[in-house]
Parts: sequence; C-alpha cells; structure tokens
Amino acid sequence: MNLFSTLSKENFLADVWQKKPYLFQQAMCEVVDIVDGNELAGLACEPSVESRIIFGYEGEYKKENKSADKQQKNIKANEKWRCEQGAFDESRFARLPEKNWTLLVQGVDQWIDEARDILSYFSFLLRWRLEDIMASYAPMGGGVGPHFDYYDVFLIQVSGMREWRLGQWCDEHSQLQNNDQVKLLAEFITEETLHTKAGDILYIPAGKAHWGIASSDECITLSVGFRAPSQKEILSMMLGDMVDSFSNHHRYKDNMAAIDSNSNKINQAAHQQLREFITALTPEKLSTAAEQAFGKLVTEPRYCALDESSVVTFSEFNDIIEYCEMGNQPLRLYFPPHSRLAFSETQLFVNGEIYDMDEPFSKAVCDGVIPINLYVKQKNRELLYQLLEKGDIELLDEVE
Ligand code: SIN
Ligand code: CO
Repeated sequence: MNLFSTLSKENFLADVWQKKPYLFQQAMCEVVDIVDGNELAGLACEPSVESRIIFGYEGEYKKENKSADKQQKNIKANEKWRCEQGAFDESRFARLPEKNWTLLVQGVDQWIDEARDILSYFSFLLRWRLEDIMASYAPMGGGVGPHFDYYDVFLIQVSGMREWRLGQWCDEHSQLQNNDQVKLLAEFITEETLHTKAGDILYIPAGKAHWGIASSDECITLSVGFRAPSQKEILSMMLGDMVDSFSNHHRYKDNMAAIDSNSNKINQAAHQQLREFITALTPEKLSTAAEQAFGKLVTEPRYCALDESSVVTFSEFNDIIEYCEMGNQPLRLYFPPHSRLAFSETQLFVNGEIYDMDEPFSKAVCDGVIPINLYVKQKNRELLYQLLEKGDIELLDEVE
C-alpha cells in the first residue's frame, strides 16, 4: 500500500480525514483483481451472505450529463431505482440486463482472505471503528445512485473504472427520493467529478453526497467504512442495559402530601419521588453506562459463524498453556473474521460483550499476543477459555 506517497499521514489526518474527499491515485495496486464478478455472484447465492442488486433508472446516466438544471430535475422525477434482496438463484445472473445495475455483497472480508488483509492497511486509524467490507460489481452505467453515508469510507477500485460525482454536504434534513427500496437523495448538486481506475482509492467523509457510476464493464469497488454509532443508538443501548439492572421491587409509594385533595391530580409531592429517583442516576453513572454501551456497539459483530471444530477442550487449553509456560513463550491468538475487539482502561469488549479486565491484559488480548506474566494469572486464563469456548478467539499455538 502506498497511501501516503503524495500526502503525509499527518497531513491526511489534519486536513482531510472527516473534512473533505481525497483521491489516492494508484495507492493500492496489490488489490487489483483480488476478486472477480463470478466470485461475488457465487457469494450472493449463499443464504449466509447479505447481498442485493440495485437497478438504476435506464438511460439516466446519459441524460443526466446534459445540464445542471436537467440533472436535478431528472433525479427528482426518477423513482425507478429498485432493489432486489439476495440470496440469489444462479439463474438470476443470466437474466440481468446488459447495463445499469450493480450487485452489492456485504462482509466480503469474512469470506475472501485478500479482502480481509486490506483491513490491516487502515490500522493507522482506529481499528475498532472499521466496518466489514462491502463489494460492488457493476457493468457499464451501474451504481447505487446519488446518496450520502453516515460513515467515513475508503472506496477502493479493484477492477474496471468508475466515475465519481461528489455533491453537497448532507444531514438528516436532506430530502430523499420517494423510494422505499433505495435511499437516494432527491437533489444532487455535482461539485466535482473524479475518475478512478484499478488501484485508486477515493476517500469520502461522512455526510458528503456521492454518486459512483461504472464507466466500464467489470467495475468492482470495495468499500471500507468506519462505524459511527449515533447518539440515539448509544442512548437506546445504555437505557436498555440500565433497565436490565433495575428490579421491579422498588416502586412508587404514596406519602401523605401526595394524596392530593383532588383525586385526579398528580401533584408535586408525587413528582418529588421521580426527581429523587432520577437524581440518583448521577452523571457518573450515566457516563459509565454510555461508555459500556459504546464499547458494545462498536464491537457488535455483523456476522457470527462459530467454527465448532476449532474450539479446544479445557484440557487441550491447559496443555497449550503449560507448553508455552515451559518454553517461556507468549500465548498467540488468532481472531476469526467475525470477531471484533476493543478495550478501555478498565474493560475489554469482545463481540458486543463486556469484561472487567485490567488494561495490560485487555491490550494483550487485542494484540493477539499474551505474555507469560499475564496468562499465568487465574482470572485472565478463565477469561481466555471463556472466549475460546464462544469462538471469539482461537489459539495459534499447538502442542507438538
Ligand atoms: C459502490 O461501490 O457502488 C457504492 C459505494 C458507495 O457509494 O458507498
Ligand atoms: Co456511499
């Protein structure tokens, strides 16, 4: 990868990241042709793989270019974009039109090793924010239409060519087309047009309108997105967790002042009980709940394929530990593709679960290398075995 040949990492982070789009030309030539249309079509036939085909409005690609005025009118009038959800039958691919559609396959990093390797190129950013990789395959004219995303995305061109139109900044007030199948912008104001070819990467910050249109057949693009939980999602998760920690035992009780002379009135004395209860939810308690909800949300796996064959028994686990201990070796972990990990100063988050562990151990787990002084501790060993049993981690070391 050659991401920072024309722009330093420091300048990218200071001037570009989450601020403006940037085209990295020929920055990832090693990904050229790592996947082809047949492989993606094959994945889209699997029920365990999330896929869809988006059909663009026939003829729009050419018409849209005529003038800026027409462009906006065309988009407003266009409600013909539609979406078919996978899994698909093989025969579906033989019946597709020649142009103007795109196949989208989610989570290709789960199934294609070369795609999974791409994730490590982005470790200069926060690993725990990395979303699974989506692949798109399109013949000439295919694309998902004019839209914006709520996450930052690197769009890696793997084969063929794509025209990218970059538009206005958008938010929740941006008007969408009246289309319940595809979420598209009602208006798209082209500010810039860029062209990508295999090996190029286009970075687009969250909220920036974009519209990619295949300008060749066999156009394959990988999207590496970054998770960004909304305040609404965080609140909903933290309140849900807090509800679980409450019992039905503590209840409203009348005190004399609450028994109002008007028997229909909920008076201040009754409200006072609510105030006391709410005041007991201190900012510290709320912050802790928010931090935990956040850790859970960013590590929630999209896919969970437990490989039973790779789960070691307790005695095998102990043998491996003993073997490593004798050789004064660290314990090395392997992470199955679906696993997501993160840590804070006091907690380890694995696949949406929280474990109270100290930072050195949590960091070692996330790094996949546990030094002897950490795995000899009983509490740490117990957690490692718990994670192994759940298929969240695997061991690389084998007793010879
Ligand atoms: C695509 O790969 O066609 C679309 C990706 C995107 O616009 O987010
Ligand atoms: Co997008």
